[in-house]
Amino acid sequence: MVIAIIATLLIARGAGFEIVLGAAVVGGGAGALLAKRVEMTQMPQLVAVLHSFVGLAAVLIGFNNYLAPPVLTDTTEIAIHQCEIYLGVLIGTITFAGSIVAFLKLQGTLSGKPLMIPGRHALNLVIVFACIALGYRFMTAPTQADGIVALIAMIVLAIVLGLHLVMAIGGADMPVVVSMLNSYSGWAAAATGFMLNNDLLITTGALVGSSGAILSYIMCRAMNRSFLSVILGGFGATTASSSAAIEGEVIATSIDEVCTILREASEVIIVPGYGMAVAQAQTTISEITRKLTGLGVRVRFGIHPVAGRLPGHMNVLLAEAKVPYDIVLEMDEINEDFHNTDVVLVIGANDIVNPGALEDPGSPIAGMPVLEVWKARTVVVSKRSMAAGYAGVDNPLFYKDNTRMLFGDAKGSVDALLKQLAA
Ligand code: TAP
Repeated sequence: MVIAIIATLLIARGAGFEIVLGAAVVGGGAGALLAKRVEMTQMPQLVAVLHSFVGLAAVLIGFNNYLAPPVLTDTTEIAIHQCEIYLGVLIGTITFAGSIVAFLKLQGTLSGKPLMIPGRHALNLVIVFACIALGYRFMTAPTQADGIVALIAMIVLAIVLGLHLVMAIGGADMPVVVSMLNSYSGWAAAATGFMLNNDLLITTGALVGSSGAILSYIMCRAMNRSFLSVILGGFGATTASSSAAIEGEVIATSIDEVCTILREASEVIIVPGYGMAVAQAQTTISEITRKLTGLGVRVRFGIHPVAGRLPGHMNVLLAEAKVPYDIVLEMDEINEDFHNTDVVLVIGANDIVNPGALEDPGSPIAGMPVLEVWKARTVVVSKRSMAAGYAGVDNPLFYKDNTRMLFGDAKGSVDALLKQLAA
């Protein structure tokens, strides 16, 4: 981006320098301020908004390029250029509309529930064919005004498609959507690069587009979702509703009791989730880890690939709190070890430790691999209430015989626990 900005400023030396510099200062200042102020837990929302800007930029540049085209004489070149404009505006509009819905869903303004319109796949297909037909009209438009009409008609359809694609996806699958929109925004930038004949933009756009696609694919695999159904919008499983009634009783515990359980343990696994990030409990947890290790307890961390609200969220927080990296293990590395573990401390996590994902085929998160914490001798869950997690589903873990609920803000609870352990 630095190379791109400097190059643009150098090109603008002749004319419009003040405007480009002014825009860079205002835009850069707003971006820096936003990124500085945003909480780590609101990161996906910020990323979604930024993707919408990339989409919008592609649309605006497309219009600009159509209204003031570069001088091209060869008819094939003109056709290719128009095709680039059309694709750039199409991908840009879908990215823009989809990112706005993703932002509203992540922000909680729109419900995380998937919107299932009957025949939605057919609707998507009709829109795609209509966009192809409008593309033909655009390419063969006798006048610029006719071309603009076709372009605007396609934009209206692409907005419906972008909105509908993301509306159809349930809250639990939003991480994949955010990384998929990341990929779309890369392709929109690459299309803009073709329009502007700008190699740097094509290269960076293609990098973002392909790395976003690879990340989406990895996440899909981690969550046991089909990549194709993400791209088409809406997963088959999301139509289901939980059928299993939860049995068992909730057993509350106290700091004293948890302290005793931990002191008597020899193997402890800590599973952090979104609640740890909200409560900012990671530093105290790091100290508890040191304290327990000093007492001869083997402490490790189990990290689910979508714990928290963005990829690597927990790893970053734990690294910040100076938890040694070699005791922080990925889900696949630690899932086999729970049955040999004395105590699992679940700190502000919910969906990622929900046995319903494996046991209840009707659950909205059915099929998603989870950390199988319930196999340990004792599970202590620190959270404020019995409220559901991001996916909005009940968690049978909280009702199991070997689970103890430590109610209260995670930071308050772990602070008290550390004090008690020290005493
Ligand atoms: P969640 O399932 O969202 O559960 C977090 C739990 O933390 C809540 O049930 C909440 O219960 C508790 N909590 C909130 N504030 C707390 C506080 N101050 N102190 C103690 N507990 C607190 O989180 P998870 O288990 O980490 O799972 C992540 C979810 O987010 C998944 O569904 C995932 O798909 C989704 N998601 C992930 C990403 C990525 S890429 N990581 C991006 C977007 C969405 P109380 O209200 O009862 O305290």
